[in-house]
Amino acid sequence: MDISDQQSNGWLIGVLAGGKSTRMNSGVPKVLHTIAGKAMVKYVLESIRKATNAHISVVVPPNAKEIRNQLAHNVSFVEQTVPLGTGDAVRQLQPISNAENASILIAYGDTPLIKPETISRLIAKHESSNATLTLLTSISNSPNGYGRIIRNAAGNIVKLTEQANLEESKLPNNEVNAGLYAFNMKWLWSALDELKLSAAGEYYLTDLVEAAATSELLIESVAIENAVEGMGVNDRKDLAKAEQVMRRHILDGWMAKGVTIIDPSATYIDAEVTIGKDTTIHPNTSILGQSTVGEQCTLGPNTVIRNSTIGNSVEVIASIIERSTLQSEVTVGPFSHIRPDTVIEAKSNIGNFAEIKNSRVGKNTSIGHFGYVGDSTVGNDVNIGAGTITSNFDGETKHRTTIEDGAFIGSDTILVAPVNVGKRSYTAAGAVITKDVPEDNLAIGVPAKNRKMEQIVDKGSQKSKLGKKQHG
Ligand code: UD1
Ligand code: CA
Repeated sequence: MDISDQQSNGWLIGVLAGGKSTRMNSGVPKVLHTIAGKAMVKYVLESIRKATNAHISVVVPPNAKEIRNQLAHNVSFVEQTVPLGTGDAVRQLQPISNAENASILIAYGDTPLIKPETISRLIAKHESSNATLTLLTSISNSPNGYGRIIRNAAGNIVKLTEQANLEESKLPNNEVNAGLYAFNMKWLWSALDELKLSAAGEYYLTDLVEAAATSELLIESVAIENAVEGMGVNDRKDLAKAEQVMRRHILDGWMAKGVTIIDPSATYIDAEVTIGKDTTIHPNTSILGQSTVGEQCTLGPNTVIRNSTIGNSVEVIASIIERSTLQSEVTVGPFSHIRPDTVIEAKSNIGNFAEIKNSRVGKNTSIGHFGYVGDSTVGNDVNIGAGTITSNFDGETKHRTTIEDGAFIGSDTILVAPVNVGKRSYTAAGAVITKDVPEDNLAIGVPAKNRKMEQIVDKGSQKSKLGKKQHG
């Protein structure tokens, strides 16, 4: 059975994303802290969606604009006005439930590693056993901070004790509550009404376990083998651990799809990145945000690609690419910086120490050595010499530079924008271009003067003539 076909009617799904996030010590709500570039609560929602198509409601704190904005897609929100604990958070779902809901699934927004298969298993077990309450457990080597499962001699769960309620010496075994539950809905609402405030001033959802056991109702559990899947991310140390697990999972996925990763311990690929087959990623490389990488690329070492689109057979070495597009067979680096809103068309080469910003660079063009190209449109088959600078800012406004097809920009040219260099024109080394250069011209001097190419190219190569002038 396709797991998404599993019972979707009758279930109400609640994800808890309220509370104070004290342990994270952050201005950002805990559930929005990211793992491999994605908010942790999004992982929880995605896993639930793969397991069931029942509608999801998220319990949020007051003024949770950020959470609402990030999750707006396909969920509804319920506000928990005062952070009175997980029991109180679940209670907020009651007004949106209806008579058709027989069961309710509760997940915590801070358990990002939970798998869809596990959620599916819990739903299936709850349905087949007809239990009042089914919960997810694991045997943990580091149970510190988790609720502990207490069973009777017959092995039945009779209680769930929060660590805060126990003395260290009396802590029971290391079977812990992983924080995923299915409840009989009718029973849940009545039992929540009976819940008592804990010593810590919170209503613990987990106290319902003892309530069910006392009433001799059936409590079932589903176990996960690897405790890390059920980990709750409460502080920055947990966040780093979850990041490590998720990162390795993502890398394993790409390796299975035919991507070579030279050193997985030094490669960082965000959750939403896609990479084509036979691409090789060298160490110290981060591919971040919404980036797409084509096939047969060579990326790194020491490269950052953020929110960018990379075509096929692209090579980037020791460079940073931000919110830009590199079309197929482009080469960049080492030590170049492609800044936002840049498109480098196919087969162009951006060499060493170049910075390119908000520019379109045509096909087969070469910007081989240090220089700055900003707010520019550069045509096809252009050669931009070392040290060229587009002087795009006059202190008040940014201006554009246009370099048309086939132009040759001599070393150390300064293009004082707004300015246009026409097709096939040359600028001599060290030229300061303050006015437009028409097609087929040579611009030379400081500030540069324009001359028709045929006036100066009579015999010999024009480049050797230029060379004499420039350096003389
Ligand atoms: C909880 C469980 C613990 C379990 C662990 C698993 C309780 C009382 N304890 O502890 O048994 O082992 O999770 O990870 O449930 N939240 C709200 N409103 C609140 C408080 C919390 O929405 O008033 C949300 C939080 O955003 C979080 C989730 O509920 O996503 C769990 O809360 P948290 O405070 O992290 O519980 P733990 O102490 O980790
Ligand atoms: Ca937690």
